[in-house]
Amino acid sequence: MSRKPVIAGNWKMNKTVAEAKAFFNEFLSQIDVDDPEVVVCPTYTSIAAAVECTKGTNVGIGAQNIYFEDGGAYTGEVTADMIKEAGCEYVIIGHSERRQYFAETDEGVNKKTIKALEKGLVPIVCVGETLEEREDDNTFDVIKTQVEKAMKDVNEPKKVIIAYEPVWAIGTGKTATDEQANEVCEYIRKLLVEIFDKDIADCMRILYGGSVNAGNVKKLMSMSDIDGALVGGASLKADFVTLVNYKK
Ligand code: PGA
Repeated sequence: MSRKPVIAGNWKMNKTVAEAKAFFNEFLSQIDVDDPEVVVCPTYTSIAAAVECTKGTNVGIGAQNIYFEDGGAYTGEVTADMIKEAGCEYVIIGHSERRQYFAETDEGVNKKTIKALEKGLVPIVCVGETLEEREDDNTFDVIKTQVEKAMKDVNEPKKVIIAYEPVWAIGTGKTATDEQANEVCEYIRKLLVEIFDKDIADCMRILYGGSVNAGNVKKLMSMSDIDGALVGGASLKADFVTLVNYKK
């Protein structure tokens, strides 16, 4: 089963419009591959500039969040239609920082995933255990709950990208070992077989995220159930291109 690899950058709360433009100026001049699929997720305010900069390239743009309602009195929120109109093709949903600091729930993640699909966006749905949960041997239970709840009533699962991001590996410089990362990604695929079926699960891309960098990306990408990377810190500099070109 061949699944197109995805290298996605999550800029989190970084980069002004001017900084985003400067990044793309340098980054795009070094891109010469149409494999893997490349995604960059800037802040809302830089989306329009990022879309403009990447027009005609194989770099897709995503948002870092949406709200699941279509509009109304939800101060500070942004709809799927709004980011779609701005040129986004992807949206990150349920990142652990949103779960941790902004009280994002599994139910909200599910509603956002369904809304993203309804509006023609590719959801990148994040799951992952905390250090405490791993140390208590609860990793698989936590992942099972998060994946099952996120995928409830999802009717175009093949379009969904799942990102396994152990919370203890995010921004800490502590990458999960290739085996640890693959073990959970493999488990997620097993869950997807149970929730949907084998054909569907075999098509779905599962990314690993958490301190991915130029030094570890190649090995992670060689693992059987890791189809890509969601990259935070290492996506902020134009040498993110070395991750995109991990095959070279
Ligand atoms: P990191 O972040 O690569 O800086 O660890 C990954 C993420 O949060 O998506």
